[in-house]
Amino acid sequence: MHRPENLILVIFGASGDLSKRKLIPALIDLYNQKLMPESFAILGVSRTKYSDETFREKMIESIKQFNQNSDLDDKVINSFSQNLYYQPIDTVNTSDYAQIKNRLDELDRKLNTNGNFIFYLSTPPSLYEIIPKNLAQHGLNTDEIGWRRLIIEKPFGYNLNSAIDLNKKLLEDYEEDQLYRIDHYLGKETVQNLLVTRFSNGIYEPLWNRNFIDHVEITSSESLGVGSRGGYYDKSGALRDMLQNHLLQMVGLVAMEPPSSLDSRAIRNETLKVFQSLRPIKKEDVKSMAIRGQYVTSKIKGKEVPGYREEIGVDSNSKTETYAAIKFYIDNWRWGGVPFYIRTGKRLPTKVTEIVIHFKQTPHYLFTKKNGSEACNQLIIRIQPDEGILLKFGMKVPGAGFNVHNVNMDFHYSDLSDVKLPTAYERLLLDAMLGDSTLYARGDAVEEAWKFIAPIQHAWENDESIKVYGYPAGTWGPETADDLIEKNNTTWRYPCKNLADDGLYCEL
Ligand code: BG6
Repeated sequence: MHRPENLILVIFGASGDLSKRKLIPALIDLYNQKLMPESFAILGVSRTKYSDETFREKMIESIKQFNQNSDLDDKVINSFSQNLYYQPIDTVNTSDYAQIKNRLDELDRKLNTNGNFIFYLSTPPSLYEIIPKNLAQHGLNTDEIGWRRLIIEKPFGYNLNSAIDLNKKLLEDYEEDQLYRIDHYLGKETVQNLLVTRFSNGIYEPLWNRNFIDHVEITSSESLGVGSRGGYYDKSGALRDMLQNHLLQMVGLVAMEPPSSLDSRAIRNETLKVFQSLRPIKKEDVKSMAIRGQYVTSKIKGKEVPGYREEIGVDSNSKTETYAAIKFYIDNWRWGGVPFYIRTGKRLPTKVTEIVIHFKQTPHYLFTKKNGSEACNQLIIRIQPDEGILLKFGMKVPGAGFNVHNVNMDFHYSDLSDVKLPTAYERLLLDAMLGDSTLYARGDAVEEAWKFIAPIQHAWENDESIKVYGYPAGTWGPETADDLIEKNNTTWRYPCKNLADDGLYCEL
């Protein structure tokens, strides 16, 4: 892996949570692996009035608190912190951007960064139009001297219209290839491994279609509630916060056709085609194809936890969903007739993200049906935790007769003892510095994803007869969600912390 060219990374919202918890800890990991440019600056920008020195001290504290890497010593932390600078401005005030420009000019000269600037918007979404416009007004958008890139955090838009509008406004001043829309799930090593699993192994491709796959299930569950983010979450909900972006991006990778190359355009074209093939959910079908729920107070391991409506920042009559599950189809030759089931929720029993490919039953089952052994083969791709891949298949129980028992064949990343999985932000920041946008969402795909979600959003907002089901915190969501998937012995998989285990009662 080569190092990026010299550059300045400007982080707007530098005193915020994302910067402290994810961005700076990821940047120091890159620095420690000698993957940062030879010469660089990280310029923090926020309203808070810090000096360079205070900003450095604060970021050192964050690194010590949030970076899990035990290899980092004080020497590395201190030398990294010398690359941090800070500029306080009021981001809505156009004239303040002259200060950014001056600071960039000065650092650019000092550090030989050749006018290469990345602007990271780690701010409230209400600033996603304002900051880029102001940068453009100060000539900081053009690639005339060096290159300029803009990284935009999620949520990209609030619905289809606002996403189209945001894309349009950004494209007034920037080219599409300058825009890096983050979906941090795409930065996860295990999500990228989906491409490798599918396209580097000859055995999967012949099976990866409607002839052999019965249905596909994707779960992204979290055990925590909304915590201190109630104010944000209450205006968002599970559909916007997780399903429209993270879950659909995983659908894109599971369902895409083999790209012609690993080129960013080729891969992103294939994702787009999947989104364009999603069968629109009709208004009248929303009730039966999409289920929403909200956690209510309950006891978890003997300790009482508040219901969603009791959380700080949440309206006490809120109808915002903390759980969403949908069933849908992809209308193309590969997937025609194969149902996809995806679900996500907060305050579920455990934090797990996984993709389960359920293969079809054999055409004629010969053996004794015992202990659910007639269950079909499943390929489980575990995104987190206990990252790995598991194949479930039937095996003869030794002894008389032909009793079949389901067994597991598994690979765990943890078995690769010398390999540390990079964090999603580490990978994404490095890619943006190298100018590789493959793992970033393209504008057209983001719009298609919103288009697919729009009828559900509309029905949930306007149709009073669609229920928000309560589910006790710590359970697998509303029971009605089981009706989406249940037929002939099929249920959701109830994953445990350990990849190999499942079932309602297991270690969580
Ligand atoms: C974020 C959502 O995008 O993803 C959060 O806004 C959610 O609500 C988080 O908790 C989950 O990410 P991860 O990487 O912890 O699965």
